Amino acid sequence: MATPSRNVLLIDSTGRGHAIADLFQRSDPSVRVFYGPGNSSVADERICTVPEVSLSSPASAVQFCQARAIDFVFVSHIDALSTGYVDFLKASGIPTIGPDRAAARLEASKAFTKSLLQRYKVKTARFKVFDQPEPAKQYIRTLGYEVVVKADGLCEGNGAYVCSDQASALHAVDNIMLARAHKDAGNRIVVEERLFGVEISIFALFDGKEFLLFPAALDYKRSDDGNKGVNCDGMGSLSPHPLADKALYHEIQTELLEPLGAAILGEGLKYTGFIYIGAMLCDDGIKVIEINVRFGDSEAEAVLPKVQSNFVQLCEGVLQGTLSSMSLETDDKCYCNVVAAQGPTLRLDEDGREIRYPGWPHGDFEVGCPISGLEAVDRRNSRLFLANVRRDAEYSLVTAGGRVLHVTGFGDNYAQAVHHAYANIEKIRFKGMSYRSDIGLIYGSVDAKRQRREIPSLPSTWQMPRGALS
Ligand code: AMP
Ligand code: GLY
Repeated sequence: MATPSRNVLLIDSTGRGHAIADLFQRSDPSVRVFYGPGNSSVADERICTVPEVSLSSPASAVQFCQARAIDFVFVSHIDALSTGYVDFLKASGIPTIGPDRAAARLEASKAFTKSLLQRYKVKTARFKVFDQPEPAKQYIRTLGYEVVVKADGLCEGNGAYVCSDQASALHAVDNIMLARAHKDAGNRIVVEERLFGVEISIFALFDGKEFLLFPAALDYKRSDDGNKGVNCDGMGSLSPHPLADKALYHEIQTELLEPLGAAILGEGLKYTGFIYIGAMLCDDGIKVIEINVRFGDSEAEAVLPKVQSNFVQLCEGVLQGTLSSMSLETDDKCYCNVVAAQGPTLRLDEDGREIRYPGWPHGDFEVGCPISGLEAVDRRNSRLFLANVRRDAEYSLVTAGGRVLHVTGFGDNYAQAVHHAYANIEKIRFKGMSYRSDIGLIYGSVDAKRQRREIPSLPSTWQMPRGALS
C-alpha cells in the first residue's frame, strides 16, 4: 500500500458520508480519510472514524485538525453547514470545502431560496410566502391550480405537502402553522404551484465561480411502493437519470446552473462544495423544486460510485478556484440504490404488553436490532453503504436509526443494476427490515419530446422484485 500523503477530514455521519469517504479512498490510493463523527460500523484501512469530532461543535474539528496534519476539511452534513461550521473552520485558518452559514440558507430557508430564484430568473414554480395561516388560506381559495404547501425551515425531508385538492392544502396550512407539526420550521410557509412531470436530482461541484456537473439521479422520495405514502429523505435512487441525455445536461447548464451561479455571486454568498438541485422535467421545460447545499442521500450512493476522477484533486481544484480547467470522468454503468429501513415491529414490554412501532418514516421505530447477511453481499456487482448501523457492546452490528443501510447494484443496464441491488438486499436480515420493491420503475408523466429521446427503458424481461419484508 502506498504511504498516505493526504489527510482529509470529512464531516458527516450518514450513508452519504460513507459514499463520499469511499469516493476519496477509492479514487486516490494515497489519501487517508478521517470521518467525523462518522460511523463506528464503517471500517476500512484508509477510512478512520473519529467520534470525538462532533457535528454540533466545529471547535472539536479544529482541535482534531491541529492534532493531525489535515490538508483540508469537507463538510457535507446540513446540521453542521446550517449552523456555521464552515465559517468557524475558515476563521481558524483551516482550508474547508462547504457553503458558509449564509449560503446554507439556500437549503435552510425555502422562502429565501424561492425569492432568490425569482430575482435571478431561475425557472421555478409560481409561489407566495406567508407568516400567518389566514392570508395563506385565503390565497389558496383563490387559486385555480393544485399547490404544494411547505414549511420554510429544515424538516428532515417531510415538510412539503403535495396537495391534490383545496381541502388538503388548507389542512396542510393548519398542520404546519397551528398544530406546529414542524415546530419553528413552520413559522413561515411557502405556497407554490404543484408541478407535474418526472423529478430529477442534479449535482455539481462548485468552486465559488464554476460548476462541474456530476451525473444526475432519479430519487424515490415516497415511502411506499407505487410512489405512495409520505415524502421522506428517500428510499432509493437510480443513476444516471434515465431521461438525462446531452440535450438535457445542456438545458441544465444554461437554464439552471448559469443563472444560479449568477445568483450566488450576485448575492455575495460564499459557497464551495456540492450543490444539489431538485428539479421537475415539465412539459414546458425544467423547473427547480428545491436547492440543497450538500449531496443527496440516497443519490450519493448511486452517483458517486460512477465517478472515476481523483476526488482529492477535484477538491484541490475547488480550494484553488481552478475547477474550470478540470473535467469529470465517470464509468458507463447503471447504478440502483435500494434503502433498507427500520420498518414496523412488535415488541413485548416487561409486563407482557404489546408495543407496536409503526417504523420509519411513519413514526417511532426500534433500534438495536441485530443485522446479519452483510458479508454475503456480492461485491462484484454491488456496493454496501452503511447509514444507521452501529456496533453494540459485543462489537456486533445493530440498527441505529430509520434509514439503516443502502445496497447499490450495478450493471451494464438498469435491469441488471436493479436485479443486483435486490438479489443482494434479500441476503440481509434484521427485525423489521423494510424496503421498496419497485425502485427502477419510472413514475410521473413524461412529455412526448422527452419520451422520444428517452435512452434506456426497463426491458420486457424485467420482473418486479419480491415484496418488502415485514
Ligand atoms: P422539498 O421539501 O421542497 O424538497 O420537496 C419534497 C418533495 O415534494 C419533492 O422532492 C417533490 O417530490 C415534492 N414537491 C415539492 N415541491 C413540489 C412542486 N412544486 N410540485 C410537485 N411536487 C413537489
Ligand atoms: N434524497 C433527498 C435528499 O437528500 O434530501
